[in-house]
Amino acid sequence: MIRVPSSGPDLIRIERVSVRRGHRAVLHDVSASFPTARVTAIVGPSGVGKTTLLGVLNGLIAPASGHVVFDDVGRLDDPTSLRAARHQTATIFQDHALIGRLSAIDNVLLGLADARHPLSPLPWPAAARLRAAKALDDVGLLDLATRRTAQLSGGERQRVGVARALIRRPRLLLGDEPFASVDPALAQQLGALFRSLAVREGLTVILVLHQLQLARAIADRIIGLSDGRVAFDGAASAFDAELEARIFPSLALSQSPSQPKETICSND
Ligand SMILES: Nc1ncnc2c1ncn2[C@@H]1O[C@H](COP(=O)(O)OP(=O)(O)O)[C@@H](O)[C@H]1O
Ligand SMILES: [Mg+2]
Repeated sequence: MIRVPSSGPDLIRIERVSVRRGHRAVLHDVSASFPTARVTAIVGPSGVGKTTLLGVLNGLIAPASGHVVFDDVGRLDDPTSLRAARHQTATIFQDHALIGRLSAIDNVLLGLADARHPLSPLPWPAAARLRAAKALDDVGLLDLATRRTAQLSGGERQRVGVARALIRRPRLLLGDEPFASVDPALAQQLGALFRSLAVREGLTVILVLHQLQLARAIADRIIGLSDGRVAFDGAASAFDAELEARIFPSLALSQSPSQPKETICSND
């Protein structure tokens, strides 16, 4: 068995990044680096720039200043490096965008669609189908491989979405509120899956999460954004109630002592 270190070198690093969207400055001078084999959660109230930060990390949003460096590939403002980095990056979407009439395995194979025309009538090569089966196995869905995704539960569909990201064998896995449509128990289970994949495969996982309890449970590290700036960057265990109140001021104000502490803070 191959053993990977519990934390590796940084895979991607953003240096003094500022982003403008429309006429507004959305991210201000943000610097952070993201190690391999680790799960980082990005938290903060709605509109604070979390999705924008993921967009910067996958190269869809170009910073107005500062830059993003992807390991040995180089800076993302270079088109060749950007293409290479995007090949090694997979993003999981909240709505998981599956095709209901296709089987789970065929949806997973769509993760490889940039390797060929998505509507190609040719059967997928055996090697690709094997990779898809392995990805489904990783998310515990191998026994439902031939089931149409329209017949799967929300949580199962979400796991197909994760398998479709994994089949690309990414080094960087990004998720924008990937558990928003699943119940807390399943979110916890999927979170644990991300964590074990990070450690086992040396993946760099970065998730925008709006459930703080989940962020604390599954992430090694939390980055708290406030007003487009990094207000906290440290171990998930150090993200205490005081920090929470600082980063989510409206939540702290609206919470009465009788209410449970944990919760869903914002959902876009
Ligand atoms: N395409 C866009 N054009 C202009 N402003 C945008 C665009 N997308 C997002 N914004 C603004 O940028 C800010 C940050 O958005 P976003 O990164 O989506 O925040 P979050 O994900 O934390 O809710 C918000 O004020 C939002 O209104
Ligand atoms: Mg968002």
